[in-house]
Formats: sequence, structure tokens, C-alpha cells
Amino acid sequence: MARALTLLSLGSVLSSLVRAADNGTFDYDVLQYIDPLIGTANGGDVFPGASLPYGMAKAVADTNSQSNQGGFTLDGYNITGFSTLHDSGTGGSPSLGNFALFPYASCEGDHIDGCKYPKLERPVSFDNSSIKASPGYFAVNLTTGIAVDMTTTQHTSLFRFQFPAGSSSASPLILMDLTDLSDSRQDNATIDVDESTGRMTGSGIFLPSFGSGKYTAYFCADFKSPSGIRDNGIFVNSRATSDAKSLKISRSINGYPLPGGAWVRFKPAEDTSVLARVGVSFISEKQACSNAETEIPDFDFDATHSTAVSLWQEKLSPIRVSRKGVNDSILTNFYSGIYRTQIQPQDYTGENPLWESSEPYFDSFYCIWDLFRSQLPFLTLVDPQTVARIIRSLVDTQQHLGWLPDCRMSLCKGFTQGGSNADNVIADAYVKGIRDGIDWDAAYAAVQKDAEEEPYDWSNEGRGGLQSWKSLNYIPVQDLDYIGFGTMTRSISRTLEYSYNDYAISQIASGLNKTSDAEKYQKTSGYWQNLFKDDQKAYINGTDTGFTGFFQPKYLNQTWGYQDPLKCSNIDNSGSICSLQNSAAETFESSIFEYQFFVPHDMATLITLLGGPSSFVKRLDYMHDQQITYIGNEPAFLTVYQYHYAGRPAKSASRAHFYIPEYFSTTPAGLPGNDDSGTMGAFVAMSMMGLFPNPAQDVYFIIPPFFESVQYTSPLTNKTSTIKSVNFDSSYKNIFIQSATLNGKPYTKNWIGHSFFTEGQELILTLGRNESSWGTHAADLPPSVST
Ligand SMILES: *[C@@H]1O[C@H](CO)[C@@H](O)[C@H](O)[C@H]1NC(C)=O
Ligand SMILES: *[C@@H]1O[C@H](CO)[C@@H](O)[C@H](O)[C@H]1NC(C)=O
Ligand SMILES: *[C@@H]1O[C@H](CO)[C@@H](O)[C@H](O)[C@H]1NC(C)=O
Ligand SMILES: *[C@@H]1O[C@H](CO)[C@@H](O)[C@H](O)[C@H]1NC(C)=O
Ligand SMILES: *[C@@H]1O[C@H](CO)[C@@H](O)[C@H](O)[C@H]1NC(C)=O
Ligand SMILES: *[C@@H]1O[C@H](CO)[C@@H](O)[C@H](O)[C@H]1NC(C)=O
Ligand SMILES: *[C@@H]1O[C@H](CO)[C@@H](O)[C@H](O)[C@H]1NC(C)=O
Ligand SMILES: *[C@@H]1O[C@H](CO)[C@@H](O)[C@H](O)[C@H]1NC(C)=O
Ligand SMILES: *[C@@H]1O[C@H](CO)[C@@H](O)[C@H](O)[C@H]1NC(C)=O
Ligand SMILES: *[C@@H]1O[C@H](CO)[C@@H](O)[C@H](O)[C@H]1NC(C)=O
Ligand SMILES: *[C@@H]1O[C@H](CO)[C@@H](O)[C@H](O)[C@H]1NC(C)=O
Repeated sequence: MARALTLLSLGSVLSSLVRAADNGTFDYDVLQYIDPLIGTANGGDVFPGASLPYGMAKAVADTNSQSNQGGFTLDGYNITGFSTLHDSGTGGSPSLGNFALFPYASCEGDHIDGCKYPKLERPVSFDNSSIKASPGYFAVNLTTGIAVDMTTTQHTSLFRFQFPAGSSSASPLILMDLTDLSDSRQDNATIDVDESTGRMTGSGIFLPSFGSGKYTAYFCADFKSPSGIRDNGIFVNSRATSDAKSLKISRSINGYPLPGGAWVRFKPAEDTSVLARVGVSFISEKQACSNAETEIPDFDFDATHSTAVSLWQEKLSPIRVSRKGVNDSILTNFYSGIYRTQIQPQDYTGENPLWESSEPYFDSFYCIWDLFRSQLPFLTLVDPQTVARIIRSLVDTQQHLGWLPDCRMSLCKGFTQGGSNADNVIADAYVKGIRDGIDWDAAYAAVQKDAEEEPYDWSNEGRGGLQSWKSLNYIPVQDLDYIGFGTMTRSISRTLEYSYNDYAISQIASGLNKTSDAEKYQKTSGYWQNLFKDDQKAYINGTDTGFTGFFQPKYLNQTWGYQDPLKCSNIDNSGSICSLQNSAAETFESSIFEYQFFVPHDMATLITLLGGPSSFVKRLDYMHDQQITYIGNEPAFLTVYQYHYAGRPAKSASRAHFYIPEYFSTTPAGLPGNDDSGTMGAFVAMSMMGLFPNPAQDVYFIIPPFFESVQYTSPLTNKTSTIKSVNFDSSYKNIFIQSATLNGKPYTKNWIGHSFFTEGQELILTLGRNESSWGTHAADLPPSVST
């Protein structure tokens, strides 16, 4: 046996070596390299279930893990149901997870009360090895012997429950629970079950996971079984009845909503397999039913699944890499990251009950503070048409609700983490030439309003402290603000982000020939300098780090406050409060030591303030080497690449290779933090492609790709661009660019513009083991607003 096994594994090693030794061609199915389970443990909070690209229906098993934000987790917790609405990668409370189904092969004693109804009582374990997850598909076998798999269309899930064979007396039951994933259900949820067909319809009012307000969701569930329906009814708490077919239920006064829902039982059969089709809507039960009937008329599981597969294949088609010599886990890391960028934002077009509009409507921006850094710039490459629709949706949202969102989920306003970062997203699309149907005057009015008008409630939108911003030219610590209201913290990170937001606005103004606006916002984009205290030192454990000059908080009276530059850093173990709490720090979710680098638009001035390029590089090195930064949160992303501004692109390459795959691997626990929609996924994808964006600028930093070649076909121009590495080495020792050519001509700049992607250009990088002089000269550096 052992010998046979050895031979077998030798065989598979050989065949994988052969596979590894192929295949310079680009003609392969990328879906084989997508593992949706990456990020389902260790706080990745990824949604690993079945969904279309940007789909609203997201079917998966929900667990009772503390970290079940994305529904399913692989962390030893058990399954409580199978629900249809989800978000991916989010922090905060779990999102959505409404209208869960749960199956029993039979109820004890064949009595309906012999089944367990409340979510707290019914968790069931599952067989790890039975999990199958791929784009548009999810399957799991419960230890109760029931196999469940699922697929989706845009607004409808199709679940298949296969009950254990051979027990011809068992009468399977499926219940539908009105309780959502985070137990947020409010009063007066309803459910009705149709006695003859078993169709269930209903609705509930729920709370968003990281925002204000509430939302109503509707469903329509139909069941198809070969044996037919035996009986049906409703349940409340732990008791069920077939006498009542309708239920309206209050939340009640406990910490979680009163258990309630409906059930349907099927006639015994030798081999029972039940299909459950669950349509959802934010408009009405009627629309939930029509969504279901239109999208999956015949309960055809295989056809629904294969449509989902082709939609994913099409969405994933723009990027192909050479697999030559590359370990499959590298390919899986890459394509799984790409896949996660198209799980959400979610396309709720036609499902927005808040206002009438013929514009697209996207939701689940969770949050733009994260997404602007990598995910949306990445989508601008692989799916520019959808980015145009996302921008139109943001602008339409602003026109109807008054403000652009930072965070938005479940039709509600989410909490703003810093600046008005939708400005960056809109500017990024603008500078990259995304035009398709966007009303740029309206878009400009929307971003300009962020800079000029303070909202009453700036914890949900816009910016706070604009009076001080305009008079003092920074956000003061303990600001006096009686115009609008929000949490009076983060004065440093808000000053930095508002500065950057103004730069973004100036980019659009300049493109629209609004010259005086462009100059004005370019000037205000320099306000970050007002919080730079040039004699500030930083200490770790009482020892001087040797660096002088950091941002510090400043009061209204223009005297300096103080915040330890290491407070809220990754090595701050003192229990600092660093998020949106009213007692939190002057920097959001990171330290002054990291925020010292957040001047994405004027790195040249920053580098001068920090003592010149070599001192700047020492600071960046120190931050990475001492683990002051943590790659599991988004402010770290740009710091991997900012060496480019100091003429040290080789160091950016080293850092990228240090973090990937060390912190990003292909296991369930393989993400270092919340994926935040697909923001971590996009960081991985763009780093591995070798071109990383500085958002809102026409700049991509060049490092050697993790593949011998990368081929990109623009969905807008159909032109194909290529990056090729000479001396590529899959053990990643040759990760330093020695020289480069662009379309055959020597190219020494360490960055490239977006036209590389749209114009079908060819970049050839010659690699070596040591840092070279390539990309190191002043003329090679990416632009700064001051240069
Ligand atoms: C490379 O892949 C293509 C497409 O899958 C295949 O036709 C070809 O035989 C492969 N080449 C090698 C050397 O395996
Ligand atoms: C299933 O996998 C999870 C996470 O990998 C682990 O915590 C759990 O112990 C596993 N369960 C079994 C029965 O192997
Ligand atoms: C999951 O269910 C199994 C079997 O009932 C039980 O032994 C285990 O403790 C449960 N796990 C958790 C985390 O509740
Ligand atoms: C899961 O259940 C299905 C249906 O009974 C069965 O075909 C499959 O082999 C099971 N998978 C595992 C890993 O047991
Ligand atoms: C909930 O239903 C009760 C009983 O019908 C009614 O009195 C109450 O106004 C309803 N509440 C809401 C928020 O609709
Ligand atoms: C491929 O990568 C995996 C995961 O890092 C590793 O376990 C495996 O040894 C690698 N295989 C080869 C052939 O390098
Ligand atoms: C801005 O001005 C330039 C030069 O006059 C012109 O080519 C361009 O079309 C103008 N752009 C807009 C949006 O008006
Ligand atoms: C600071 O102290 C901690 C705890 O003693 C230690 O782990 C860490 O290495 C020290 N850091 C530096 C830079 O001295
Ligand atoms: C400025 O305000 C701060 C905070 O109220 C106070 O501690 C400081 O003494 C003031 N400085 C001056 C010069 O008034
Ligand atoms: C790109 O190709 C698609 C599909 O073949 C076609 O519909 C579209 O017109 C082409 N676009 C351009 C700019 O050639
Ligand atoms: C690279 O640098 C090392 C020392 O840092 C040196 O030993 C080696 O010869 C260099 N390799 C090449 C190819 O220049």
C-alpha cells in the first residue's frame, strides 16, 4: 500500500512537473486556479459561495463562527443555514445572511415538533473534505447525511438538498428562518406559505452592518421535489404547526430576534432530492417571485450553473499569464485575488427602492476608504464598462441623497472612515479615460460639494471641520464644529486624506478645463504640510528611532498637541483605541509612523521634508522591518511601492515579494486581514502583474511580474499589451530590473501610464539578481504635483 502510494504520488509529482514545465501559451481555463475558500478563516471574512460577477444573490452555508461576516467559515464552526444575500470581506457586524433555509432528513418521531427550529439549536457540523467551492458553485455535506449544493443567477439562488437514500419512511423537512446572520431583524417580519404549492413569500426589516438606518428585504421560495409536498406551516420559537400558514412576528425584547419562519415537509421517497429556488428583492415579494421565475424558470441546476461559469470566464478573460515554471499556488493566489474583485460592489440595478432612476445602482461599497486603493483601479483594467456604471451609480446616489458615499451597504449610508474618498475613485476613472455614459459635470459637482459644503452628519458622508479647514488649513484636534457633526477624532489622517481628495478634485477640474478650480484644489492639496512638526521625534521602548520630523495634531489655537508616532501601529500593544470610537486616536487604524507616507500626490515634497531620498528610504525600511506596518490593513499597500519615489524600485520589488506569498497564501487562513470587498485580492493581483497603481493618478509603479509574461487585452480597445521578463526565474531571485524596453525602445522610467494598457504596448524587462541603476535617476521617478 505504502509502495503503491509512493508510486502514485511520484506519478503526480512528475505530471505536475511536466505541467510546470509547459506552458508558455495563454490558452487555458483560469477557473481551475480560483479557490473561493481563500480568506474563509482568520478574519478574511470572504464570501466563498455561489455568485455571479457583482451578483445580488450570493448563496452559501452560514456558520455560527464569530467571524462569519461573509457567511461561511472554515474555522471549526457549524452550519446554521443556507442563505441568499451576503457581503464579502467586510469588517463590522456580519452583513445580510437573510432568509436562511435549513434541512432535516426527517423530524424525530415523524412529528414536526421533532425538528429543531431556532438558529441557536440547529447548528450542524459538516465534512471538511466535502466542501467544493468554485465560481458560481458551492457544495457541502452535512454530518446529518444531507448533501447540499447551490448556484445562482443575479437575484436568485438555486439550492439542491440531497437527502440520504434508503429510508423510504423518512419525510424531509426544510425550514425558512426570518432571522438574519447578525440577528438584526426588526419588528413585523412576515412569512406566508402556500398550502398547495409550498411557495413561501415574505419580508423583514433589518439593520446594515456598518452604517445607519435600516433596509427591507423580500423573498420568494419555491420547492421542487419528485415525491411532492406532505404538509407545511409556520414555526415560532421551538414549536411548529401546520394549522397556520402565515406569520407576522415582532423582534421581541431579547438580544436576538424571536425565532420564527415557515417549513415545508416532503412525502417520503426512496431517494429524495429537493430543489429550493429562492428569489430575493429589495422592492417587493412580487418582484422576488418574478426575479426567480424569470431567471430560473425550470429549476435547471446544471444550466444555471453553466451560465454562471461562462459569465465568470468572460469577466476573467482580460488577463492571462505564462504558467511556465510557475507553481500552481502562485497562479491560484493570482486568479483567486482577481476573482474576489468582482464579487462586489453588487449590482442592485432595478432593485433600488429609494429613488426612481434609469441609472445603474450599485451597493456594497465596503468601504471606499479601502476600495479606492486597489480594487477599483484594478477593475478599471479588467472591467472598465462596469467601472463606468459604478461611477454613474455613485453620481446618481449623490444626486438623490445629496452626497457621495464612503461606505454604503444594504441600501444604507455607511460610516465614513476619513476623507471623502469617492473623490479619489471618480478622479481615478477620469484620468484613466473612463467616459462611457458618465455625466462629468454632475460628477464634478458631486466631488466639489465634498470639498465645499459640510454635511450635517459627516460621520456618514462628506467631510467635517470645513470651517477650520478653510480658515486654518488643517483639521484641528478638538475642533470647534457647530455646522456638522461626527466623531471628533482622526484630525491627522483626515487632514491627509482631505488633502489627497482635493488633489483628486483638481485632476478632474483640470481635465474639464476648470482652470481656476484646478489651481485652487491643487493649492489646498498641500494643506497636509501644516501638520508636519519638523522637530518631532519618535521612540520605541524609550529608544530614539533616530528620525526627526513627523505629523502631529494641532489645536485650534495653532499650538501643537501630541500623539506618540507609534500609537496605533502594529507594534502598539498598549490597548490604544484606533477606529471610529469617540475616544480614538488622531490617526485612523494606523500610526503617525505609517501616515507619514500618506501624501500620494506629492511624494517629492514629502521626501524633502523627511530629509531626502536616503533618509526617506531608511524610514520606509524601518517601518517595514520593525513591523510597524501591517499588510493586513490598506494603509500599508502604497508603502510597499513608495521606494519608487526615492529612486529605489528594487526595494519595492523586494517588499512585494516579501509580503506575497508570506502574508497572502492560498489557504483558508491565507489573508492577513479582512479582504474588504476584494481590496486585498486586488493588491495581490496588481502586485503579481508587476504594475501597481497610485490611484487618481496616471501612474503604475513597475516591478517584475511574478510570471514570465503577462498579457492583457483591453475590453475597451481590444488591444493586447504584454509584459515580458528576460531571465525570469520562478524561485524569484531575479527580481531586479536591469533594463527595460517599451515597444522596442529603451525605457528607464520606473513607472508607466494607463495608455500602456489601452494602446497594446509591450514592456520587456531584463531581470537580474542585484539592484541596478535602472529607474533610479531623477528623470525616472513618478511625477509629483510639485515637480
Ligand atoms: C500548452 O497548453 C495548450 C493549451 O492547453 C496545449 O494545447 C499544449 O499542448 C500545451 N503545451 C505543452 C507543452 O504542454
Ligand atoms: C475542518 O477545518 C477547520 C478549519 O480548517 C478545522 O478547524 C476543523 O477542525 C476541521 N474539522 C475536521 C473534522 O477536520
Ligand atoms: C459542531 O458540532 C459538533 C457536532 O455536534 C460539536 O461536537 C462541536 O462542538 C460543534 N462546534 C462548535 C464550534 O460549536
Ligand atoms: C457528499 O455527498 C454526495 C451526495 O451524497 C456524495 O456523492 C459525495 O461523495 C459526498 N462527498 C463526500 C466528500 O463525502
Ligand atoms: C407591527 O405590527 C403591530 C401589530 O399589527 C402594529 O401595531 C405595529 O404598528 C407594527 N409596527 C410596524 C413598525 O409596522
Ligand atoms: C508549490 O507551492 C506550495 C505552497 O507554497 C508548496 O507547498 C509546494 O512545495 C510548491 N511546489 C513546488 C513544486 O515548488
Ligand atoms: C479643454 O480644452 C482643450 C484645449 O482647448 C480641449 O481640447 C478640450 O476638448 C477641452 N476639454 C473639455 C472637457 O472641454
Ligand atoms: C520593544 O519591546 C518589545 C517588548 O519587550 C520587544 O518585543 C520589541 O522587540 C522592542 N522593539 C524595539 C524596536 O526595541
Ligand atoms: C492652545 O490650546 C490648547 C488646548 O486647549 C492648550 O493646551 C494650549 O495651552 C493653548 N495654547 C495657547 C498658546 O494658548
Ligand atoms: C472589441 O471587440 C468586441 C467583440 O469582438 C467588439 O464588439 C468591439 O466593437 C471591439 N471594440 C473595438 C474598439 O474594436
Ligand atoms: C550581486 O551582488 C553580490 C553581492 O551583493 C555579488 O556577490 C554578486 O556577484 C552580484 N551578482 C551579480 C550578477 O552582479
